[in-house]
Amino acid sequence: MTLVLGYTLATAWLALCAWSIGYTVWLVVYRLWFHPIAKFPGSFWARTTFWYEFYYEWIKPGKYYARIKEMHEQYGPIIRVTPDEIHISDPLFYHELFVPFNVRRTNAYTRYAQGTGFEDIFAIIHTHEGHKVIRDPVEKLYGKIATHEPLVLGCTKNFRARLDQERDTGKLINLSHACLSLAIDVATTVTFQAPSNYLEEPTFNENLFNIQKSGLMHVPLFAHLPTPLRMIVVPAIQVLASRIPELKEWDEKTRRQTFRTELQEPTMKLQGRASIWKRANFASRIGQLIQQNGIFHVSHTIETIITQLAMDKSQLQKLQDELAQFWAEKPDKVTSWYALRELPYLTACIHEGLRLGAGSMKRSPREYPDDEIHYQGWVIPKGTPFSMTTYYMHMDPTVFPNPDTFNPDRWLGADPNGLMHKYLLPFGKGSRACAGQNIAWMQMYFAISQVYQPGGPAIELFESDESDIRLAHGYVFPQPRLDSPGVRIYVHDP
Ligand code: HEM
Repeated sequence: MTLVLGYTLATAWLALCAWSIGYTVWLVVYRLWFHPIAKFPGSFWARTTFWYEFYYEWIKPGKYYARIKEMHEQYGPIIRVTPDEIHISDPLFYHELFVPFNVRRTNAYTRYAQGTGFEDIFAIIHTHEGHKVIRDPVEKLYGKIATHEPLVLGCTKNFRARLDQERDTGKLINLSHACLSLAIDVATTVTFQAPSNYLEEPTFNENLFNIQKSGLMHVPLFAHLPTPLRMIVVPAIQVLASRIPELKEWDEKTRRQTFRTELQEPTMKLQGRASIWKRANFASRIGQLIQQNGIFHVSHTIETIITQLAMDKSQLQKLQDELAQFWAEKPDKVTSWYALRELPYLTACIHEGLRLGAGSMKRSPREYPDDEIHYQGWVIPKGTPFSMTTYYMHMDPTVFPNPDTFNPDRWLGADPNGLMHKYLLPFGKGSRACAGQNIAWMQMYFAISQVYQPGGPAIELFESDESDIRLAHGYVFPQPRLDSPGVRIYVHDP
């Protein structure tokens, strides 16, 4: 009996091995010679297996953006970066590819959401039409400048007040967490009926942000797990995560939040498109998704500007002088975003903060279901995922000499090629570009002008430098060196 069982198991094992080898060989042959994008150039490994991307995203980690750049240098401006996806490196072509809703139907690539925990929502909004259901009202709501100006200003005043509270107390502040807390307060204020108050928390929600960062770093692992394994592991992780007190509290807080009236009906419509099994907590999870989109880039930009100014006193002085003059001459305008936008040095600091702090390193591929793409003699078939990486444009030395340097003056002088504004694309472009751009600009103008207005605090860095802010890892939201504890500061009287 034992012998028969052993023989059966051995045969099954052999059959499984033979099937796996046969399947792998077939897959490689298909991807290299018969796949619709088989002819596109690229590294052998990138063309044949998704594990190549996994290696550079998880093992390296977050470095596939750098490897893709190397591959472009080797194979040219259009390459295959995974068996399914084409990547193009040609900044001016970006403006032709990423177009508004009415120009071309544009889907997102569902694989991009794998491992994020929002796969079910993405399964609906990855289509052009599904996305439009929620995108239009969100954009319309965030476009109400007069309504949002006092709300966003209020949050930035709270931020400044929290810094003031710590003046000369000798207490170390984690600026990264303070900026994230500000960003959540702004995002919830403009999206939900009752704002949250993350800025009030004494440690600026240190534990929550550390856990969220760790979650972000694990996305590439979950994304690449084979589907059956992912279906078991991801829910298990979600159950475990729901027991972590900080995450539980964050989750509960967002669940209690009610959308602003303008977003309630579209959310219900979207929920109606979800399968019956996925409807529980659907609305609150859309809220979480919007919140995540609205915090990382903006907080990192503000943090970058404050840190750079703390390292360069002459730049700091220029900004303070400009603001002091404005505060003296136009005191009635200091709460107007439109008026602040006229200040050249403040604007230049924000542009430079966005260039260094908010370039997307991770691709966010799109697909045209109805159109081919024609580029330099190549034809990308309909429905093929394609992507571009704005980080390369932000760091292009032909347009931004010494691209690693924070240099607001570059935005004040002549723009020799007329390309600087075309290469600065922190918000992306087209139908899926940032929906919260107005809110983001307001937040940056108000936060920076509140901190550096006359009488503002003096900020001293503690064991922190440029390496704590320079983007280095291309996760869904890019991160600086992974062992950075965040920028730490002391706040003093000026
Ligand atoms: C410096 C600040 C910000 C930057 C650089 C930025 C950048 C981006 C980018 C690049 C995308 C597109 C992602 C993709 O291609 O898949 C995006 C999407 C989005 N952002 Fe922002 N963002 C910022 C701030 C905000 C704020 C403050 C909010 C709202 C409070 C917000 C709300 C959104 C939403 C809702 C989306 C999804 C849009 C869609 O899928 O149609 N963002 N953001």
